[in-house]
Amino acid sequence: MIAILGAGSMGRLWAATLPAGQVAFVPRPGQAPDSVCYRFQPIDDKSVSVTVPWLQPGQSPDLLLVTTKAGNTLEALKAALPSIANSTPILLFQNGLGSQQQVAQTWPSRPVLAASTTEGANRPEPGLTVHAGRGDTWVGALNPVGHPLVKRVTQLLADSGLAVHPEQDILAKLWQKLVINAGINAFTAVLDCPNGEILEQPFYQRWINPLCREISHLLAAAGRPEHTPEALRETIEAVARRTAANTSSMRADVLARRTTEIDFINGYLMRLGRQHGIPTPVNQMLTEQVQQLN
Ligand code: PAF
Repeated sequence: MIAILGAGSMGRLWAATLPAGQVAFVPRPGQAPDSVCYRFQPIDDKSVSVTVPWLQPGQSPDLLLVTTKAGNTLEALKAALPSIANSTPILLFQNGLGSQQQVAQTWPSRPVLAASTTEGANRPEPGLTVHAGRGDTWVGALNPVGHPLVKRVTQLLADSGLAVHPEQDILAKLWQKLVINAGINAFTAVLDCPNGEILEQPFYQRWINPLCREISHLLAAAGRPEHTPEALRETIEAVARRTAANTSSMRADVLARRTTEIDFINGYLMRLGRQHGIPTPVNQMLTEQVQQLN
C-alpha cells in the first residue's frame, strides 16, 4: 500500500495511475471521512472516475509519497508521521530546494528520498485532474538510510506505468529544475503571462542576464558543476519555448490565490547567497515582487 500526503494535482496523478486498491491519501487534521473522488483524464485515453480512500488507523504503508506544496511539507509531515512506521520510506516531490533538506534534518533516522519529475498534471476544474504532459520521474536518496531503498521505491512507483528511474545524484536533478523554475516562474507570475511570452517582455530581457550570473556563482559556491550564465539562459529559454503555451505553477498559484513556492525557488537562492556572501539582488527583487502578489 502506498500512502499519499497531499491531494493536489501531483498526488492525484499518482493515485490515479498506481494500481487501484493499493493507494490511500493520508488524512489531514479535521479531514472529512469520505473518500476522495474525481475524474482523471489520461493523455490519450477516455477519462475515468477515481475513488481513493483515506489511510485508516493501523494501516502500515510500504511507501509515503509527499506531494504537498513546499511551504506546507514540514507541518503536514509533523502531523502525519507519528502514525507511520519509522522504516517507511518518505519520498518528497516538492519543487525548488530547502524543504527537502528541512525534512531530512528533522527526521535523520527515517529513510528520506526525493523525486524530481517532469510529469505535467493540472486541475482545470475542482473535480477533474488532467495528465497534461508525459515526462520522467527520477528518484534518489537524501540521507544514508534512504540509499538502500532507492531501487525498491523506484519499482513501486513504476507500477503506475509512468517512466520512473533511480538517480544517484538526486540533488543535481533538483538543481536543474530549480534553475529552470528560477528563470521562468517568477517572471510569468509578475508579468501574468504564459511561459513563452516572457521572452519578448522588457522586464525579462532587463533581468535575465544578471539573474543567470547570480545563479552561476551560486552553483559554484554550492559545489555543483559550474555553468556559464549564457548556458543557463539557453537552458531556461529552451524550456520556456518548449512550454510556451503553459501557465507555470507559480502563475497558477497566484491566479488561484494560493501561496506560491517562491520562498523555495528564488527565495532559496537568495538565502544561499547570504550563506556564501554572494549578492543576489535579482533573486531578492523577484522574490519580493512575487510575495507582494500573494
Ligand atoms: O513550474 C512549472 O510550471 C514548470 O516547472 C515549468 C517548467 C516552468 C513549466 O511550466
